[in-house]
Amino acid sequence: MSTQQHIPHHIAVVMDGNGRWASKRLLPRIAGHRQGVESLKRLVRACVVRGVSVLTVFAFSSENWNRPADEVSGLMDILVLALAREVPQLKRDGVRLKFIGAREGLSKRVTRGLLEAESATQTNSRLMLNVCFNYGGRWDIANAASQLALLGQEITEKSLGASLSTADCGDPDLIIRTGGERRLSNFLLWQAAYAELFFSDLLWPDFDELALEGALDDFASRERRFGMTSAQVADQTNQPA
Ligand code: IPE
Ligand code: IPE
Ligand code: MG
Repeated sequence: MSTQQHIPHHIAVVMDGNGRWASKRLLPRIAGHRQGVESLKRLVRACVVRGVSVLTVFAFSSENWNRPADEVSGLMDILVLALAREVPQLKRDGVRLKFIGAREGLSKRVTRGLLEAESATQTNSRLMLNVCFNYGGRWDIANAASQLALLGQEITEKSLGASLSTADCGDPDLIIRTGGERRLSNFLLWQAAYAELFFSDLLWPDFDELALEGALDDFASRERRFGMTSAQVADQTNQPA
């Protein structure tokens, strides 16, 4: 079992495999996306219970516009519906939702849904839920750089990092990707620098609490060295706080 001290502060998830989950059942891909929302609800609850502070999920990438138009519009509908339906429960659970991604290209209806969910939950602080929608890591970095350029500020690692969309919640400690692929697909490219990566072959709708427990146990067993030696890490750990 994972011990509390090893629970990651910030978990990020590439929720992949919805389409294959549906195809295996001879269902339309969109049915997989609907089931994916159920899986996300389960994960949010599990993170609240375990005391995770930040959960960042990849819901729609900059590249997902390349999908068939009916799948794209279906994903937009699912988002709007899920937000409207789930905000009351998120409020009760102390979850603060934040939308991360480019506004350009999103319809008024989608933007309104995201902004309303943000403002309805803005006083919550138990779990920060970042929903990356119309998000790409390259967009995030370019956007941060152009903000700094507009302000005439110097671009340094510190200033760029502080201008990224996730600046207020720190880098992810653990990135989980389901669906069997071993790639980031343009997710949190800058912020992933020192994240522990966990790849699961489970399709996203099948990723349950037991699977999360497995990922957390695996995370707890990793030694995070941040460039140091094992001996240095051990010294740090043994030092009184
Ligand atoms: C992830 O599942 C959800 C989104 C990208 C929106 P996919 O739709 O990519 O599912 P697969 O990879 O085709 O199974
Ligand atoms: C990544 O999944 C994006 C999301 C989960 C939202 P994809 O299914 O789009 O990734 P690729 O195209 O297989 O790399
Ligand atoms: Mg996929």
